[in-house]
Amino acid sequence: MRRKLVAGNWKMHGTRESAEKLVAAIVADFPTHCDVAVFPPFPYLVPLIEQHGAKLAFGAQDCSEHDDGAYTGDVSASMLKDTGCRYVLAGHSERRQYHHETDALIACKVVKALEHGLTPILCVGESLEEHDAGRTVDVVQRQLGKVIEHCGIAVFERVIVAYEPVWAIGTGRTASPEKAQSVHALLRSQLAQADAKIANSTRILYGGSVKPDNAAELFAENDIDGGLIGGASLKAPDFLAICAAAH
Ligand code: PGA
Repeated sequence: MRRKLVAGNWKMHGTRESAEKLVAAIVADFPTHCDVAVFPPFPYLVPLIEQHGAKLAFGAQDCSEHDDGAYTGDVSASMLKDTGCRYVLAGHSERRQYHHETDALIACKVVKALEHGLTPILCVGESLEEHDAGRTVDVVQRQLGKVIEHCGIAVFERVIVAYEPVWAIGTGRTASPEKAQSVHALLRSQLAQADAKIANSTRILYGGSVKPDNAAELFAENDIDGGLIGGASLKAPDFLAICAAAH
């Protein structure tokens, strides 16, 4: 039985004050029937972890593929570990799109995260154009395949996968539970081709306009092990309602 995870990706939103209020509200009503993690912007990680890290798990939205050095603006996995982070996103579609992150680079970031004891959440998903051209399967299999090839299947004992169709992110258009389930099943069978036992234990989250009113039906699908939540994770009642749907 895979325990569900609900992860809140705050992206580049909020202020220190709003971040503190949001975390305080989550901690005050802390769900224990599923795993919960939040991914605030970098500058807010340290104060939030110092205050609430004992109860709530934190993650970063990205990390460098390097250990340290002259890489202005970058943050390494070891620095994140040092602050008390437990998770890091790898290859979110906004990083792929705006920072031109390639499958190969993302695989290197997954390696660094694991080396430093962080749990990477590997994001995959097709764009609207790829979706409309019927290329969903090709795209997500290539994205996942690159990490399997580079890192080996054994890392998926720790790596979490998130399927996030790009056309559903922040658009209010969500994949139907059946459609999301079919992609999740496909990703799991790709993992199973390399190792059935690991595939069965790997958590695969769904992301893309998950809201309180659609979370339960998505999370009821066999291969959907929780969600990566953007917009709705910025409002404590919505985020907590989504957590409540994750049985
Ligand atoms: P959304 O974002 O829930 O606002 O669609 C999800 C994500 O980008 O992780």
